[in-house]
Amino acid sequence: MPAIRIAPSILSADFARLGEEVRAVDEAGADWIHIDVMDGHFVPNITIGPAVVAALRPHSAKPFDVHLMIAPVDPFIPAFARAGADLIAFHPEAGPHPHRTVQLIKAEGKKAGVVLNPATPLAAVEHLLGDIDLLLVMTVNPGFGGQSFIDSQLPKIRALRRAIDELGRPIALEVDGGITAATAPLAIEAGADTLVAGTATFAGGPDAYAANIRNLRG
Ligand code: DX5
Ligand code: ZN
Repeated sequence: MPAIRIAPSILSADFARLGEEVRAVDEAGADWIHIDVMDGHFVPNITIGPAVVAALRPHSAKPFDVHLMIAPVDPFIPAFARAGADLIAFHPEAGPHPHRTVQLIKAEGKKAGVVLNPATPLAAVEHLLGDIDLLLVMTVNPGFGGQSFIDSQLPKIRALRRAIDELGRPIALEVDGGITAATAPLAIEAGADTLVAGTATFAGGPDAYAANIRNLRG
C-alpha cells in the first residue's frame, strides 16, 4: 500500500493570513496544498483567482493542487499554470471537450486531473485515463467546506482504483469532501491514495495542524 498523501484545502484556512497558513500546513507535514477555485456559477460560492495562487507560491515548495470549479474552464488554464499550479484538476461538465482541456493543461507543462461530482460516473472520464495524472472524487457536492462525507461514492472509488491498476499508469486517486479521522479509513480502504482535508486540517488552529494531519494518514 503506498503512503497516503494529505492535501489540506486552504478553503478552511484564515483568509486574512493565507500565506502564513500555507507555510504552517507545509511545516505540519502536508504533501500537497489543495486550492479550491470557485466562480459563483459552476458552484454556488466564490473563492480565489490566479493572483492569489501567485501570491501564495513563495510560501511553499510543495505541489499546488488546484481544483477548478469554474465554467468555462479552458480560458483560465494558462493563468493558473503561470500562477504556479503544479496539478490542475477540472470538472468534465465545465466545458464541451474535456480531452482538449487535458491537452491545454499538458501544453502548459502541468499535471492534469479530472474531478467526478457525486453524480458523475466513471464512464464520463474513461476516455481520459490514458492521459491524466489525477482523478479527484468528490465526496460532497462541491462549493463549501465542512459538509458530510457521501458514502455512496465508495463503490466508485473502488471501481476507479481497479481501472487505474488495470491500466498500470501512475494516476493519483484523490478524495475530496468530508474527510475526517473517521471517514479517511473508508476512503483509503476503497483505494484512495490522496486525501483532501479542509475542516479536519485547520481545526484547532496552527498548533493542532501537525497532529490533525497525522491523524488522517490512518
Ligand atoms: C468543496 C471543496 C473541498 C472542501 C473540502 O467544494 O472542493 O476541497 O474545501 O472541505 P472539507 O474537508 O471541510 O470537507
Ligand atoms: Zn477541492
